[in-house]
Amino acid sequence: VDITPIPGPLGLPFLGNALSFLGEETPILGFERLADIYGPIYQVVFKGTRTIVVSSAAILEELVDEKRFQKLPPLAFSNDSKARGLFAAATDDPDWGQAHRILIPEMGPLSTDKMFDDMKDIANQLVLKWARKGPEDRILLTDDFTRLTLDTIALCTMKYRFNSFYSSEMHPYVDAMMNVLQESGSRSTRPAFISALHFSENAKFQESEEILKKTAQQIIDNRRANPVDEKDLLNAMIYGKDPKTGLAMRDELIAAQMTTFLIAGHETTSGLLSFTFMYLLKNSSTYLKAQKEVDDAVGKGPINLEDLKKLKYLTACLREALRLSPTATALSKKINPESHQPFTFLNKTYKVESADRIFVLLGKSQRDPAVYGEDAAEFKPERMLDEDFNTLPDGAWKPFGNGVRACIGRPFAWQEALLVAAITLQHFDLRLDDPSYELRIKQTLTIKPKDLYVRTTLRDGID
Ligand code: HEM
Repeated sequence: VDITPIPGPLGLPFLGNALSFLGEETPILGFERLADIYGPIYQVVFKGTRTIVVSSAAILEELVDEKRFQKLPPLAFSNDSKARGLFAAATDDPDWGQAHRILIPEMGPLSTDKMFDDMKDIANQLVLKWARKGPEDRILLTDDFTRLTLDTIALCTMKYRFNSFYSSEMHPYVDAMMNVLQESGSRSTRPAFISALHFSENAKFQESEEILKKTAQQIIDNRRANPVDEKDLLNAMIYGKDPKTGLAMRDELIAAQMTTFLIAGHETTSGLLSFTFMYLLKNSSTYLKAQKEVDDAVGKGPINLEDLKKLKYLTACLREALRLSPTATALSKKINPESHQPFTFLNKTYKVESADRIFVLLGKSQRDPAVYGEDAAEFKPERMLDEDFNTLPDGAWKPFGNGVRACIGRPFAWQEALLVAAITLQHFDLRLDDPSYELRIKQTLTIKPKDLYVRTTLRDGID
């Protein structure tokens, strides 16, 4: 077999290609720029290890085979902590298996249905705030959606109220979380010895991690002291037993899961809502169509769970926004050492080694013209209506990841995003504060549109 060499930028022997990303505010765009130069498969060398960066749906189609390729947990999270939450643990870590088996049923569609009222509680707080502030107020959309998603995940899964809409300062927990996110993001592209020299950042990082752990432990202690007879996620973690081993989770692991849920469960969904509104507002015919669908399905009264199922077009809008702007921007894979046969795509054969890492740029693979055509970069929700969406090739739309390590919060995120998009379209006319707004990206661990300001006007006759 003829092996095709994988192209890529030349790196310095010691720092590898990390140098070209230092100082980059949005590393993901750096990776995407290299894809524009080197094509859908290229290599970079980080800290002596080769990373193969891929960005086509056809290659992702190969990578979804879990026998050959598995999730590589994020390195920035896996240094010192003993208990790793679902997101950061390796698949063969017994802690992952235990938490996965206990938590999967708690986050399925049946369980999220029961969270609808709590979700609506927080969504109504957003509506009240916008209604009272009125159109004179310039709203940083991403901030309000972040308040909303954080309050929602905390209320629905652990009956904890951050009450973010009632203060202009964010809760200290949120500051700590943002700091951990920011620093983890920077560490993931910075050589380890440079990170080690960032003394004040490191001290702050440690302090923030302590705040996260302590807050989580307080919530656990409080629940033990004041038991509630409710089937929420926190009770499942405290009292639930692993069906395989019969064991309950230890507190340190529960705390790690809580932090994981709060982080994984709010940034991504907030970004999804912000991008969706940005695309709707930049493409006014889609906005009007989505709003009309909500008016027809829900009318002017309170929205209920059944209404959400009728919102086919709005569902397609969310899918299309997440296709163009996947808020979790990339998937990392390692190669199963037993199966590292060369991999082939477009009639070329590439050799991979078990030490290689694979990095999938979802923002590129989901804009693959081979699947979506020449208008792949445009916002066209029609292509994401059920019929077409359900027949997409497996590698074409993967914003929630893959296989056993796919997102456990997908039904939750979907219900929340659909509810909030619907309730805001129902109550308000939104417009961009700056009609000529052009998308810029802000990246922490996830991406969001930067400086997206809107104005909202309450519509007539709404309850
Ligand atoms: C995993 C995306 C919302 C909790 C993942 C992964 C992706 C993802 C891509 C896999 C990461 C990988 O392969 O390394 C998203 C997006 C969301 C979202 C785009 C919203 C639009 C949520 C919510 C929760 C959540 C609301 C919690 C309620 C998790 C957890 C994992 C995960 C715990 C790790 C699962 C495991 O490996 O066992 N998510 N997520 N996510 N997500 Fe989400």
